Amino acid sequence: MVMPIGPLMIEHRLIERMIEVMKEELAFIEKEGKTDPGWIELAVDFIRTYADRCHHGKEENILFRELGIKKLADEHKRTMEELVEEHRWGRRVTGRLVEANVRYVQGYKEALSIMVESMKALVEFYPRHIEKEDKHFFIPCMDYFNEAEQDAMLREEYEFDRNFIHEKYKGIVATAEKLLVSHTL
Ligand SMILES: [Fe+2]
Ligand SMILES: [Fe+2]
Repeated sequence: MVMPIGPLMIEHRLIERMIEVMKEELAFIEKEGKTDPGWIELAVDFIRTYADRCHHGKEENILFRELGIKKLADEHKRTMEELVEEHRWGRRVTGRLVEANVRYVQGYKEALSIMVESMKALVEFYPRHIEKEDKHFFIPCMDYFNEAEQDAMLREEYEFDRNFIHEKYKGIVATAEKLLVSHTL
């Protein structure tokens, strides 16, 4: 039987891979004093779309929602609140990185230090956050659910992913339409 934390843990492994690449890019930036804004956009898209909307989205909207219905031990309730707060913190730091990248492209080279600082914060944050979930939260939390409840969550996760790709590209078409209008004005 696949548990609903199975797909979430597999997603953690891909997030870790991206974090490793971000560490290498950080070392490059610090050595060379410059970065490739296109690469930063790629990393930011991964963080926002995959790690946050797709992965944290399933955690918050399915697993944590269902845990919220249960009578949790104080320790688990506290950890869940911390995890949600950490997701919010991650969004704010990613937002800072995006803003700094835009300014960097506009020629403000001093924005690079804000990019370095926010990337360092993110590469330090994700492994800690993932370890907290993998090693101290996900597995004990499964005890709150019977098999049918776990199955229902797993199905909902698959449904979430199935819809996600359409939502993502509908958004891209809408952005393309808006940009086209502003080009032709
Ligand atoms: Fe999380
Ligand atoms: Fe996670």
